[in-house]
Amino acid sequence: MTIKQVAVLGGGVIGAGWVARLIENGHDVAVFDPAEGAERRLHESLANADAAYAKLFTAPRRAKGQVRMAPSVADACRDADLIVEAVPERLDIKHRVYAEAESTARPDVLIASSTSGIKPTDLQGPLQHPERLLVVHPFNPVYLLPVVEIVGGQQTSEDAIQRAMDFYPTLGMKPVRVRKEIEAFVADRLLESLWREALWLIKDGICTTQELDDIVRYGFGLRWAQLGVFDTYRVAGGEAGMRHFMAQFGPCLKWPWTKLMDVPEFDDALVDLIAGQSDAQSGHIPIRQLERIRDDNLVAIQKALQATNWGAGELLARHERALAQDAPEPDWTQPLPTFRVRVPAHWLDYNGHMTESRYLEAFALGTDGFMRMIGLDAEAIAAGHSLFTAETHIRHLDEVSRDQDIAITTQVVEAAVKKVHLWHEMREGTRLLATSEHLLIHMDLNTRASAEPPPAVRARLDHVAEAHTKLPQPDGLGRHVGQRRH
Ligand SMILES: NC(=O)c1ccc[n+]([C@@H]2O[C@H](COP(=O)([O-])OP(=O)(O)OC[C@H]3O[C@@H](n4cnc5c(N)ncnc54)[C@H](O)[C@@H]3O)[C@@H](O)[C@H]2O)c1
Repeated sequence: MTIKQVAVLGGGVIGAGWVARLIENGHDVAVFDPAEGAERRLHESLANADAAYAKLFTAPRRAKGQVRMAPSVADACRDADLIVEAVPERLDIKHRVYAEAESTARPDVLIASSTSGIKPTDLQGPLQHPERLLVVHPFNPVYLLPVVEIVGGQQTSEDAIQRAMDFYPTLGMKPVRVRKEIEAFVADRLLESLWREALWLIKDGICTTQELDDIVRYGFGLRWAQLGVFDTYRVAGGEAGMRHFMAQFGPCLKWPWTKLMDVPEFDDALVDLIAGQSDAQSGHIPIRQLERIRDDNLVAIQKALQATNWGAGELLARHERALAQDAPEPDWTQPLPTFRVRVPAHWLDYNGHMTESRYLEAFALGTDGFMRMIGLDAEAIAAGHSLFTAETHIRHLDEVSRDQDIAITTQVVEAAVKKVHLWHEMREGTRLLATSEHLLIHMDLNTRASAEPPPAVRARLDHVAEAHTKLPQPDGLGRHVGQRRH
């Protein structure tokens, strides 16, 4: 059955997230929520989701589905091809809602409960068609986090599970089927154990909430985001792998390291079970390669956080500023070393070499390096002085591939009253890879108008511009796009 119309019952935090994901993927949604102000709150959440999707997707977005507020559960479910339940976490409310839904819904329509922890067997008990009920447990914000836990109850049909496993990927989601139903399923059971330990740690004065959060977000949270629990430990086991890791840390299970002391028997059967599954999961990837994948992801994640100036990324930005300040005084008479990097994995394109936007990024970071050298550092920028780029011309002269060490040098072509004309060259060793030419304008960030730089910056700029007049004019300076080479 194709799913077009969807009923979403409950338009709170989770319901609104579902509506956002559904309409984004072209489904028409009827929402029922009896609370006053529900429609306003729903549309506020949808606006946030829309803003996020506009940034997340660079592929063309689907034509959005329609949303309507339904006057009752029965009305919302009448024409539905799928019923998404996201009402409060109370069995009596959920049962009432299912009874009303079944009064109008077609008997084969799936009822997908968002419950965080109630077993589907308990949810489906009183249903007329219990085989169509299953848990599809999402995570907040539903419109951005892709995973859903799919859990069937004793009466859920295999067909219902299969239809759900087929449908949710069409919303860009990653369904994971939970093999046996338990309360709280997999995710909330894991989160609950972390939460309990966290409460103890705060109560016992071991750390504050801030310190605990920092330990997660500057530490293992960055690993979990990309490798999960077991692949993280597989790598931690080194060449000897999972079996070694377990042998090393297994005995701690018996020590009172945590308040959660109901631990499974650490016997050969447990080691075999976990090591065997871990081998099946990642045994085909040599451990050194898995380490490199982990490291590439950690670099990419921290760089992404640097762009939002948050957590580990804000720390990285601060550390980079300190490193730049400690850099030795350059030889001002030569093109200045303004930027260097080893080309990271996330700078490559489908052709296997550095993608064109990263050339500009590298050159822009070269300009940033130059700005710091002449005194336009974070402090000067905070005081309102900066350079804006008015014109750029890049030449791509040779291929740049992964893990190459590239370095940029910068020559001042001219430093007029409010303008700076720069010439960057990108090299690997002596091999010239690319050049870029920029015209930059001094700006007053408060008035957003061009302005003269502060005197100390002016003096540095004059000094370097004067020294660079003695350098030969760069080959390619002033070229325009498509100009023939002489
Ligand atoms: N918040 C989370 O992080 C999270 C994550 C995953 C799953 N869940 C689960 O999702 C479900 C909804 O949780 P939430 O966080 O969105 O709660 P919420 O309180 O934000 O939303 C529940 C909504 O249901 C409405 N409602 C109440 N009675 C109703 C009825 N009879 N019919 C229709 N709507 C009704 C309420 O007015 C409210 O807007 C719960 O089962 C919860 O366990 C929550």
